[in-house]
Amino acid sequence: MRRLSVLVFALVLPIAVVAAGQELRLPDAEGSVKFAVIGDTGEPSAGQIAIAKQMAAWRAKFPFKFVLMMGDNLYGSESPGDYQKKFSGPYKALLDGGVEFHAALGNHDDAAQTQFKPFNMNGQKYYTFKPQDGVRFFALDSNYVDQKQIAWLEKELSASGSGWKIPFFHHPLYSSGKTHGSAELQRSLLEPVFLKYGVNVVFSGHEHFYERIKPQKGVAYFIIGSSSKLRRGDLNKSELTVYGNDQTYAFMLVEIVNDELFFQTINDKGETIDAGSIRRAGDRPVAPTNTTTQPVVPQSKPSPVQPGPERK
Ligand SMILES: [Fe+2]
Repeated sequence: MRRLSVLVFALVLPIAVVAAGQELRLPDAEGSVKFAVIGDTGEPSAGQIAIAKQMAAWRAKFPFKFVLMMGDNLYGSESPGDYQKKFSGPYKALLDGGVEFHAALGNHDDAAQTQFKPFNMNGQKYYTFKPQDGVRFFALDSNYVDQKQIAWLEKELSASGSGWKIPFFHHPLYSSGKTHGSAELQRSLLEPVFLKYGVNVVFSGHEHFYERIKPQKGVAYFIIGSSSKLRRGDLNKSELTVYGNDQTYAFMLVEIVNDELFFQTINDKGETIDAGSIRRAGDRPVAPTNTTTQPVVPQSKPSPVQPGPERK
């Protein structure tokens, strides 16, 4: 009998462990802003298909309404057939379900993508949208940050009226990648504007891995460029890194509930590789010189065994 119970335990345990890594770690609160983030998705790889399937499966647990795309949306040729093969096909279940995509341009992207209706760029290389009161996104063109774009960004940030100001664009201002690393030119141009107007969180891609950066001058930075391409061994974890993963394809689920942003990063097997939350400091912009301001409260360890936020 005892032998039998040990056998039963051994059979059940692995199933329980897998299920634990696949739990929703977001509040799933009524009326919250729910979205997903993917990056560098322009290659129709097995990884892209697996991530797209996971996104559709997780949407049943967490009904996100839109997806942010971090650029490099189409690698190689960009014929109508390529849009189908590299975007509309892989994400068909989401598109059919009414999910909206909002794209930024990467270094591999032709500006003609701004005309592709499902990318919701309305012909613009940089644009803003507000899914609901209190939250506004700013898609930037980090390929060419000229004075015109900066002036536009300043105007839009100052007029946004939203507590949550979330830019997203291709080149990461902070990165521990061996291939690219931090985009220092773009940082020198954009970071002063972010600090002046109280930007809270920034999403980027370009690097084919996931990295959660230690908050920089009070701003949280995420790199998610592993949703269809993966550069194993490219993440050189540094003093910038809170958590990083270059071993698995990934996407992010994000939820904003009042002054708190919850995130859950999931791999192609549906396992959670990182989770936590960020609390907004308030409406007062962060002073550029005040490097001690710390509105970000991420969980210190990213392992799937960490307890996520309480479910409502
Ligand atoms: Fe890129």
